[in-house]
Amino acid sequence: MSQPAAKVSLTGIKPSGEVHLGNLVGAIRPALRLAQQYDSLYFIADYHALTSIRDPELLRHYSRSVAASWLAAGLDPKRTTFYVQSDIPEIFELNWVLSCVTGKGLMNRAHAYKAARDRNVEAGEDPDVGVNMGLYNYPILMAVDILIMETDVVPVGKDQVQHVEYAADIAGSFNHLYGDSYSFKVPQAVIPETGTGDVLPGLDGRKMSKSYDNTIPLFLPENKLKKLVRRIPTDSTPVEAPKDPDSSAVFQILEQFAPASAADVVADTRKRLEAGGMGWGELKNVLFEVLNAELAPMRERYDDYMRPGSELDEVLARGAERARERATRVLSSVRKAVGVA
Ligand code: TRP
Repeated sequence: MSQPAAKVSLTGIKPSGEVHLGNLVGAIRPALRLAQQYDSLYFIADYHALTSIRDPELLRHYSRSVAASWLAAGLDPKRTTFYVQSDIPEIFELNWVLSCVTGKGLMNRAHAYKAARDRNVEAGEDPDVGVNMGLYNYPILMAVDILIMETDVVPVGKDQVQHVEYAADIAGSFNHLYGDSYSFKVPQAVIPETGTGDVLPGLDGRKMSKSYDNTIPLFLPENKLKKLVRRIPTDSTPVEAPKDPDSSAVFQILEQFAPASAADVVADTRKRLEAGGMGWGELKNVLFEVLNAELAPMRERYDDYMRPGSELDEVLARGAERARERATRVLSSVRKAVGVA
């Protein structure tokens, strides 16, 4: 349960695709480790996904599936307040208040918006073609997510650090104006240790990412998982030849993914590759076995949560209730501070 003295860690998960191995290694596991030390709040940022997903069925599916994936991967909803952003209406009220203390110039410099503009300019188009106000205001909504829960630290990937700095900036503007009555906590980004130090390669050897369409989704049926592992590129080094494990995407995935219980398999595989006599096909079998041993029980839990009428809805409803308690408290101070109450 929440301990008032503990520092608060919060992060949002945008439901814009199926959860994949890269998410597990780079985001989910580190976030679950942080949940041991902090009072943690993790949520599904469905309104952020709305800036790009226009198919309502798909958005509903991803929101459920991403929530089910985190629970299946070990998120403990008793320890972590786990909720869906759109279940917290207070967020949208604070969104307006914070829009009114945020400079337009700050939003002009936000990297997602700036990148979209630059692409348009380069293509000889009007700079704002295809840019909706949701994309433009995205950093304000994210600041609200963070500030309304009185967050101390925000575990995020490098690409989101600027957004957390914006949240700190926006908190500063509000505090400067209204700080005599109410001050937001000023949050800080932390880039969590993945424990492996490296980015997980995808099916084409580049970083595994849904934007490269090179992912291994977490909860594939076994035969599909096997097929995808077969597709990871290898070179034509013959079976007998010694191989460099660290330049093989297959080995890197094995090493970064493998749980502590498979550490011996990893060490042994490294030796065998370096010695020669182990082919890429055999390495892929090892990877498949290690993946499947770890993912099979998770896949079962995931399938359970995904069944209509499963406990998923209750878990999220309880999380929303806890999150709303915090949000309501902050919002009521803010309303007084700005003069609407
Ligand atoms: N923008 C984040 C992403 O794309 C998701 C997100 C929304 C978030 N609100 C947040 C992350 C608040 C941290 C804190 O990954």
